[in-house]
Amino acid sequence: MKVDINTLNQWDASHSWHSFTQMQEYLENKPLHITHAKGCWLYDDEGKRYLDGNASNWTNVHGHSNPELNAALIQQLENLQQSSYKDLSHPAASELCHELISIAPKGIERCFFTDNGASSVEAAIKLSFQYWQLTENPQKKLIIGMEGGYHGDTFGAMSAGNSCFHQRFSEWFLPAHYFMAPQPDDMSKSLEDLDRLLETYAHQTAILFLEPSVQGPRGMYLQPPGFLQAVAERCKSHNIHLALDEIFVGLGRLGHMLVSAAENVTPDFICLSKTLTGGYLPLAATLTSQKIYEAFLGDFSEGKTFLHGHTFAANPLATAVSIQNIKKLKQVIETGALKNTCDYFNKCIESYFAKHPFVKSVRQRGLACTLELYPGNNNHFNPNERIAHHLSLYLREKEILLRGVGNTLLIVPPLCITHLEIDFLCQQTAEAIHEYITNKVGTALSIAV
Ligand SMILES: Cc1ncc(COP(=O)(O)O)c(C=O)c1O
Repeated sequence: MKVDINTLNQWDASHSWHSFTQMQEYLENKPLHITHAKGCWLYDDEGKRYLDGNASNWTNVHGHSNPELNAALIQQLENLQQSSYKDLSHPAASELCHELISIAPKGIERCFFTDNGASSVEAAIKLSFQYWQLTENPQKKLIIGMEGGYHGDTFGAMSAGNSCFHQRFSEWFLPAHYFMAPQPDDMSKSLEDLDRLLETYAHQTAILFLEPSVQGPRGMYLQPPGFLQAVAERCKSHNIHLALDEIFVGLGRLGHMLVSAAENVTPDFICLSKTLTGGYLPLAATLTSQKIYEAFLGDFSEGKTFLHGHTFAANPLATAVSIQNIKKLKQVIETGALKNTCDYFNKCIESYFAKHPFVKSVRQRGLACTLELYPGNNNHFNPNERIAHHLSLYLREKEILLRGVGNTLLIVPPLCITHLEIDFLCQQTAEAIHEYITNKVGTALSIAV
């Protein structure tokens, strides 16, 4: 029997604990249960629609309830739902390995599955540490990360970045050093800072982590052309593994399949998750080279085996839907459809927000955009007001779901969004920013001058 919505709201209020959510505040707001979805639209129990401007945590590619992805999933459901990937394989996992290697830069030949982004980063860190032990470089234990980097919420992943979300836990981080992020049009200071770190620590460093092209979770901080190659060259010349976290930027988000391949860089590790299953099921992959893989080969008694794994790694349902997702993604990239969407999104973001009186700055690349909100003139909002978060709740009345962090509004739609939907998204958001800030300034909100 279907449970009525009031009971569900009550159970949610009494027993849930939502991620990245201040529960006291959550309980003060109107609850929203999403009950079904189609294309770029999510629906609540009353049938009210919301445009999924957050691509359901930056995962959705071809839309919700996509017929081809559904069919792949249903077919797999009838055959095999879960099976161990320890000492065993299954057809969907093998085919997905083949698909992933077909899109990876030359030299990447192995695929290690996990089931979420942070775990794919942990796997890269442990593979790197073990590789250096196995190849007689046990002193290589340090991690280098970039200012503002975000790679997930587990301890290794937190250590590889230095996100403001994780400062509370920094005293338990693995040994790591961080270099300055580049400006969107100037990488010189960042590279100088990296060179300074390398001069002192290269010999002890195992791995450098980078979100190439765009630091998404930090708020779409853009890197200039050539930055990735410059970092890659330094890693190579100092014998340090380069791990590219393409969890957000990879698999279509920036308009191409992988940033590494598009920029002709072969790193030692590529981490993928988020869009990997088109937004259907949890899955992640850490891709690496044959050279790293071969260092782990040997008789079991030699102790070289990588003793690491997750119960649902390479889950058959997730891998089956991922194959279909990647095949379809290849098509939308090859036909130019994705580029067309990105170009239109770029044009609309520019025309709706570049001169918006309450948008201080816009950072956008591909289908990823951030709006920094401010009250106009030279003022700024008090960061604790979290204007973008409150605005995101206001936007629900305008049929838009976006995520707001502090004073930053993030726009990350599904890759299949249509031109009409982009217009609707931008128009409603621009209007809401105007109404909300005009109405609220001088009443509830405080402005720091
Ligand atoms: C760039 C990047 N890396 C890693 C992660 C962590 O992924 P997960 O939430 O699946 O652990 C995220 C999630 O937002 C991300 O954007």
